[in-house]
Amino acid sequence: MSKVFEMDHPLIQHKLSLLRSVETSSKDFRELTEEIAMLMGYEVTRDLPLEEVEVQTPICAMKAKMIAGKKLGIVPVLRAGLGMVEGFLRLVPTARVGHIGVYRDPETFKPVEYYCKLPADIGERELIVLDPMLATGGSAAAAIDFIKERGGKNIKMVCMIAAPEGIKAVQEAHPDVDIFVGCIDECLNDHAYIVPGLGDAGDRLFGTK
Ligand code: PRP
Ligand code: URA
Repeated sequence: MSKVFEMDHPLIQHKLSLLRSVETSSKDFRELTEEIAMLMGYEVTRDLPLEEVEVQTPICAMKAKMIAGKKLGIVPVLRAGLGMVEGFLRLVPTARVGHIGVYRDPETFKPVEYYCKLPADIGERELIVLDPMLATGGSAAAAIDFIKERGGKNIKMVCMIAAPEGIKAVQEAHPDVDIFVGCIDECLNDHAYIVPGLGDAGDRLFGTK
């Protein structure tokens, strides 16, 4: 079974609380999403391997540590995952970015897939799937299916807020994928929204409601 890491860093918790507030504007929502993504990215990349390289300082030569040749790919789930991309790219500017389009059917809550464009060499990359919300888990599981069908193997899932139901669904569908989450909330409501959650992440990011 995959591991679940709930990130209790005070900065992540503080910014998540601001993000949740119904008073937060789309502009602030976007900025907070990017900041939280960057803080989460710091933790998610903790196990990247290092190698020693020769560096000449103004004083002398030394063996310094740099990230080894591991290639990263980040894969936002459209639309809301887009809000997390810049935060990750600020940390790892050389990462390639794939996109997967999935939305939830409002009646059935089942994922509907509409777009997929991934780096050609995904089989050689460590892949980080980004979506702020993990509710039923249907969208995340479908996105990871997409990636695996195209050869992706080494995958992590990063979401800001998750329902226990969504975590269970992704773990059952993809027991090899570790999940990094800012906060695990209480449950889903009758519309499959996370409670207390933050409402509809895509609409709040892009001001579409
Ligand atoms: C939201 C969210 C996830 C999905 C989570 O996207 O960004 O992708 O719902 O729900 P699930 O775990 O039950 O599948 P949405 O369908 O609202 O699409 P959007 O980002 O385009 O608004
Ligand atoms: N999608 C969202 O954006 N929010 C939820 O709470 C559930 C699905």
